[in-house]
Amino acid sequence: MKKILIIGANGQIGSELIAALRIKYGQQNVVGMDLREPAEEQKKAGPWELGDATKRESIEGIVKKHQIDTVFHLAALLSATGEKDPDLCWRLNMDSLRHVLELAKEHKLSVFWPSSIAAFGPTTPRVKTPQYTTLEPTTMYGVTKVAGELLCQYYHHRWNVDVRSVRYPGLISWKTPPGGGTTDYAVAIFYDALQKGSYECFVGPDTVLPMMYMPDAIRGTIELMEAPAEKIKVRTAYNLAAISFSAKELAAVVAKKVKGFSCTYKPDQRQKIADSWPQSIDDSVARKDWSWKHEYGLEKMADDMLLNLRNKFGK
Ligand code: NAD
Ligand code: SER
Repeated sequence: MKKILIIGANGQIGSELIAALRIKYGQQNVVGMDLREPAEEQKKAGPWELGDATKRESIEGIVKKHQIDTVFHLAALLSATGEKDPDLCWRLNMDSLRHVLELAKEHKLSVFWPSSIAAFGPTTPRVKTPQYTTLEPTTMYGVTKVAGELLCQYYHHRWNVDVRSVRYPGLISWKTPPGGGTTDYAVAIFYDALQKGSYECFVGPDTVLPMMYMPDAIRGTIELMEAPAEKIKVRTAYNLAAISFSAKELAAVVAKKVKGFSCTYKPDQRQKIADSWPQSIDDSVARKDWSWKHEYGLEKMADDMLLNLRNKFGK
């Protein structure tokens, strides 16, 4: 990785990945691209391009201008937003991936593209979900992840494109708010605990989902892309796991650390999506192939979230 492009660099993951990659590979060597203008300090931090990932020429122009050799393709519509506009979800998630893979074939680019626990569905074993299992998602977002995984594997086998992927669990972070997923409650609870003293959770108290703290996700992503090619045996997407907890366990941990905090539950349409996903993930293949391991448990993650959000809000 010498010249890197991050597509969707303004998002929850992109805004942190770009900072981490710029520290490692040099400010001028990591280009951000997004449909939306970034914050002023992001713009000053290194090269930045406005662009639309659904337009091949938009990506190709940037790849050529900056002599890009590696693309992290993060632009997508997530599960909850995707159900509001399934047509846009399919177009954005699939057209953009297809463009990136075609450009990778032509310009010999390496590619990171994330899949998700949303690739699984109600017919998948929900506990310790194995690497190789049934993939019958019920959301359009999940459909694009399964199709995307197969497309990545196809481009690797057919055209030798070095494309790598993980199935991220729900990601918890404090720098940039999440972009419309089902797991967003695990972030919103921290914001509301500090700003309002209470939180109304949109999934029920016994909902258990796999989650991960953003520093683990960023480190894991970079480690996957830096691993020697012969170690990468899975060219669909690796299962990746860290912590699993119920909404009420998370609320109890927050209540222990934020005086007077209370949580109520009012499940909405996202409950059905959450119920179709696994509760925990078996990521032993990633641990074996490229030595993945997580560092943050529930308590350590909550302490770090609250410390950083308190600083952010001056509380
Ligand atoms: P996000 O919604 O926070 O960010 C997506 C970014 O893409 C936004 O900044 C948006 O402006 C940009 N974008 C949208 N349309 C675009 C277009 N046409 N051209 C260029 N940019 C465009 O999403 P995220 O949470 O950072 O997720 C990034 C990737 O990781 C997605 O593929 C998502 O499916 C995957 N993922 C995320 C999570 C999670 O919990 N955040 C979990 C599993 C997988
Ligand atoms: N966090 C994502 C979502 O809830 C999972 O891919 O959509």
